[in-house]
Amino acid sequence: MSNQKNILITGAAGFIGTNFTRFIVDRYPNYKVIALDNLSPYSNWENIADLEKDGKIVFEKADITDAEKMSEIYGKYQINYVVNFAAESHNDRAILDPSIFARANALGAQQIVEVSRQFGVKRHIHISTIEVYGEQGKNIPYFTEKSPLNAKTPYSAAKAAGDLLVRAYMQTYKDMDICITHCANNYGPYQFPEKLIPLAVSNLMLGKKVALYGDGMQKRDWLHVSDHCLAIDSILHMKEKVEFGEEAATDSSKLPIFDISARKEVTNIEIVKIILEEMNLEFDKWVEFVADRPNHDRRYLINPEKIETQLGFVPLTKFDEGIRETVRWYVENRKWWEDILARSKNLQLDWSKKNQTIK
Ligand SMILES: NC(=O)c1ccc[n+]([C@@H]2O[C@H](COP(=O)([O-])OP(=O)(O)OC[C@H]3O[C@@H](n4cnc5c(N)ncnc54)[C@H](O)[C@@H]3O)[C@@H](O)[C@H]2O)c1
Repeated sequence: MSNQKNILITGAAGFIGTNFTRFIVDRYPNYKVIALDNLSPYSNWENIADLEKDGKIVFEKADITDAEKMSEIYGKYQINYVVNFAAESHNDRAILDPSIFARANALGAQQIVEVSRQFGVKRHIHISTIEVYGEQGKNIPYFTEKSPLNAKTPYSAAKAAGDLLVRAYMQTYKDMDICITHCANNYGPYQFPEKLIPLAVSNLMLGKKVALYGDGMQKRDWLHVSDHCLAIDSILHMKEKVEFGEEAATDSSKLPIFDISARKEVTNIEIVKIILEEMNLEFDKWVEFVADRPNHDRRYLINPEKIETQLGFVPLTKFDEGIRETVRWYVENRKWWEDILARSKNLQLDWSKKNQTIK
């Protein structure tokens, strides 16, 4: 495999796409990086604007569902590696407007892998999510690559549909080199302030309370975004394509699918307690329990043994340090989230109201 990569990173103006674009530029200065995003209202081009100004990336505004435009971009830059992060990602918004989630997360996943097929890209990595596995029943200790897809929310079902379409390409077009990842919940800098951690910090800094959904006991599997980047890097640079035989038809763990986690399970209430502690604020004064969103998953945890043993993945950030550092990043980068809030619609939804809108 040649060392030169013309790499297309989609969803590059979003949270993980930004972190991954910055990671690749730092680590592989010789790669040609094409950062692409449709600049949805939940993206932030400013996150990577400095890289474009410094000539370290080329930026393309495009929608991954627009096959014609995508073909033009593949042809123009002779793309040979693709990492597809582009997706609608917020569970709350997906309940209000499921159609745009189905379009981006299912149709988009298929359309871009189809363009990769037509252009014969060397490796296409599709970024899926732990949430496609759905609710973790009491008797299930963790999910693995073998677990059935059992998504139950409009966001995760759209991701699962995309996942299945990409798996179909993997198994049908065997000359293609396609990988899928399922990662735990990410935390770190540049996350849009509609998600738990940046929303809580920005609310507190504006003198507002943190709204905790339901009893706050929803458990999530947390991984620092820099460790997610390391995991994807190990897949991008895997020497050989993963070959698989007929048994993969009934055992999905044999497919080039990698589940990523640091095995760190934390409840939402614990996350909020750490945020308050780091900001020297009292829990009782600054937290209010509010109506939960409908159909909220209670728990999910991934076993990352496959990527650990096959690709030597080791997460480097300790949760207790990473989470506090993340809180400080949002405290210190007030202008970053204030600029976003100034142009955003309502980012905090109230599920006690029947007719919820993002206005
Ligand atoms: N955030 C997490 O904890 C997490 C965990 C596991 C997997 N993931 C997956 O990682 C990916 C990135 O997540 P994120 O948290 O960075 O989300 P994000 O919403 O911050 O970023 C997604 C980006 O994709 C762009 N986008 C959306 N639809 C597009 C389209 N049709 N064409 C081009 N660009 C489009 C958006 O403008 C945005 O910039 C998603 O696929 C998500 O499912 C996220």
